[in-house]
Amino acid sequence: MNDITNRKVVMVRVPNGTPEPDDFELVSEPVPEPGEGEMLLRTRWLTLDPYMRSGFMAQAENLGATVIGGTVSEVMSSRCDGWSEGDLVVGYYGWQEYSIARADDVQWNNPGMPLEKWDGSLGPASTALGILGMTGYTAYEGLLNQARVREGDTVVVSAASGAVGQVVGQLAKIRGARAIGIAGGPEKCAWCVDEVGFDACVDYKAGNLHADLAAAAPDGVDIYFENVGGDVLEAVIPLLNEGARVPICGFIAHYNLTEEERRPTPLQRLRQEGLPVLGKDGSESGFAFFAFSQLSAKHPDAENALREMSDWIKAGRLNYRESVTEGIESCVPSFIGMLGGANFGKTMVKVS
Ligand SMILES: NC(=O)c1ccc[n+]([C@@H]2O[C@H](COP(=O)([O-])OP(=O)(O)OC[C@H]3O[C@@H](n4cnc5c(N)ncnc54)[C@H](OP(=O)(O)O)[C@@H]3O)[C@@H](O)[C@H]2O)c1
Repeated sequence: MNDITNRKVVMVRVPNGTPEPDDFELVSEPVPEPGEGEMLLRTRWLTLDPYMRSGFMAQAENLGATVIGGTVSEVMSSRCDGWSEGDLVVGYYGWQEYSIARADDVQWNNPGMPLEKWDGSLGPASTALGILGMTGYTAYEGLLNQARVREGDTVVVSAASGAVGQVVGQLAKIRGARAIGIAGGPEKCAWCVDEVGFDACVDYKAGNLHADLAAAAPDGVDIYFENVGGDVLEAVIPLLNEGARVPICGFIAHYNLTEEERRPTPLQRLRQEGLPVLGKDGSESGFAFFAFSQLSAKHPDAENALREMSDWIKAGRLNYRESVTEGIESCVPSFIGMLGGANFGKTMVKVS
């Protein structure tokens, strides 16, 4: 046994509505020496994402388990072939400071997604969890490959200043479309327009969303990239043009609803309106799992997409913003804050 202590965040109560700090506990435990075929990882970065609320935290079977999620860790010592001290590992070790890993561990519990060594020529390690990782690739896949954005399209994206939304708007511009964001508050909206080049951004908290959006999109909406659902979707529906595409990426406005508050999901609402929905199999998840299954850097589509976005960043054509807190203790408040819009950009924790 070495003398290292791991601290990890464990779910001790299934949240009812918005998660509360008491739904989690910070637990300390000794870290064993890595055995043959194992390595000791120290978490450098971890990501906080809305799907943790709609997935892991919605399931009682996860009580007592460490909250899952993507990580970038440094190898502290290794008894694994192919991995050496100092390597940066893109993995899925969740909200904890250390982990004992094996070379055949996978990301997302998906056997098709092995651990990856971070290629530092692409960008800083944090981007492996954001613009050059799951959220950036989701924007790329959803807008370019699924919705097939075309020059001259009017693209509206909700949660526009967030991890996925900020990339969607900029990719729309790169493809010659008109990009309109929807975000909470004047500061986020100003950033979308002034710093990353959206044509317009509407503050849904100002109270006139439908009218403001209609003014920003006088020719209607060709693509609505759905991140939010609820009232935001209701404001967009009447503006959708004939043949509009609606990739359903997520619907964060629903994730904290209690059973009594539950309302129809975007898929249900669009179907009620007789409107088209993009989805690999028409399922509730929209294109979600399609995007995830291709995220592995081993998949040529994903690898090419991430390299292309890295080049755009280096050329100054793609900007990004991260919302970083420090230390494992910050996971819970930062996560709860992100669900309510306290983040400004991709939410992540610099653990060490
Ligand atoms: N399909 C996939 O593969 C995939 C991958 C990643 C993410 N997603 C989904 O994409 C969406 C955005 O995720 P993200 O990681 O990019 O998060 P994010 O936008 O960085 O952070 C979440 C944002 O959602 C907004 N929000 C929260 N509650 C809201 C409400 N009631 N009404 C309107 N806006 C609200 C807040 O922004 P404001 O301050 O602007 O309100 C908050 O900052 C989520 O629905 C997520 O589940 C899907």
